[in-house]
Amino acid sequence: MKTYPNVFVFDHPLIKHKVSILRDKNTGMKEFRELIEEITTIMTYESMRDVELVPVEVETPLETTVQYRVPEESVAIVPILRAGLGMVNGVHRVFPTARVGHIGMYRDEETLEPQEYYCKLPEGIAEKTVFLVDPMLATGGSACDALAALKKRGCTHIKFMCIIAAPEGIEAVASAHPDVPVYVSTLDRCLNEHGYILPGLGDAGDRLYGTK
Ligand code: PRP
Ligand code: URA
Repeated sequence: MKTYPNVFVFDHPLIKHKVSILRDKNTGMKEFRELIEEITTIMTYESMRDVELVPVEVETPLETTVQYRVPEESVAIVPILRAGLGMVNGVHRVFPTARVGHIGMYRDEETLEPQEYYCKLPEGIAEKTVFLVDPMLATGGSACDALAALKKRGCTHIKFMCIIAAPEGIEAVASAHPDVPVYVSTLDRCLNEHGYILPGLGDAGDRLYGTK
């Protein structure tokens, strides 16, 4: 696969360990949900390396010093429904006060085309750093459309985080949205004829919520 300057694939032993359990078909709903959260938290730490800190004056018991903080109110989380919801708590562990917007997308099972069915975003989202989250990046259709929906509403600082990606999805997002950093915990081999990622983990939404 071509490499893209805006795509960051994590190569972290802890993520590898957790993804191996996530993929296992015998991993139940509760553990699956917890792992999605934990992996998202690790990814959030890593994806914040370029964050712009603001100076603040702090009084220690000994003296006054200038320190640096993340402007927490400048972060928003936008999950792509429904599976993206499973990642929200993982970002909230790092930014507990982040507002949450929702974009509803489902893939038409015949055409694999994404259909937007819902969009509700917090006020002032255009000024925030937006974490768009979805555990699965398959054809890339859902992520590309969700990114376009956010840009249409004025967002200019967007980070897209997904847990498992197919090369096809990365190519689609990286070429349609070269300005958006894409953080991927694990790059998989390919898609099958039904648009499922191989080796993948199956249907993330179904495994998170116990549906079929
Ligand atoms: C899954 C997944 C992504 C999308 C990825 O959602 O969570 O949103 O498929 O596929 P794509 O890259 O080919 O667009 P799905 O449509 O199954 O809906 P769900 O989250 O409600 O289960
Ligand atoms: N959506 C999923 O949940 N899993 C896949 O493998 C592809 C799309």
